[in-house]
Amino acid sequence: PLLNLLALLLGYALGSIPFGLIITRLAGTQDIRSIGSGNIGATNVLRTGRKGLAAATLLGDALKGTFAVLLAGWLIAPEAALAAALGAFLGHLFPVWLGFKGGKGVATFLGVTLALAWPAALAFAVAWLAVAFVSRYSSLAALVASVVTVLAAFFCGTPHTGALLALLAALLWFMHRANIRRLLAGTEGRIGKKG
Ligand code: G3P
Repeated sequence: PLLNLLALLLGYALGSIPFGLIITRLAGTQDIRSIGSGNIGATNVLRTGRKGLAAATLLGDALKGTFAVLLAGWLIAPEAALAAALGAFLGHLFPVWLGFKGGKGVATFLGVTLALAWPAALAFAVAWLAVAFVSRYSSLAALVASVVTVLAAFFCGTPHTGALLALLAALLWFMHRANIRRLLAGTEGRIGKKG
């Protein structure tokens, strides 16, 4: 339990780094929390029109999750990887530095999956790209891809990994509740459109 708590805290420390906010601040754009959906993730950074900044946000928010899982596995214990993944995800969603108002978890979900069960991360990428290509909705792509990932993880990973990713996917859906309402109402913003 102590090792798991340590891994959870390590994960949280890394996961709570808000790359979208840091990167856009360094680049001197508008506060991304005041544009589009107000989210701090890569999709909303893209609404500034700066593709490079969005790509860097995606990379940072994903790799902090990957790194947290790998680091906990090496430094703490191999069994602590799942707790680190949970910590990183919760850190991204609820960062203490931003008054617990963080992101929706898509990139970090992908990042921790990459470290826990890489074929499932591949499934995420394929599903996300396919849905995004057809619909141009980033949120819908993430919602579908998260479910595909959980199924893939149960299929190719351990049951524990599958169960953890199911919990993270449920949280991801919860964080997208406003997006889901907009999707149902037909008012959700499409990828690349400023909103
Ligand atoms: O990760 C968030 C994405 O799925 C939707 O982002 O900014 O359109 O709410 P956004």
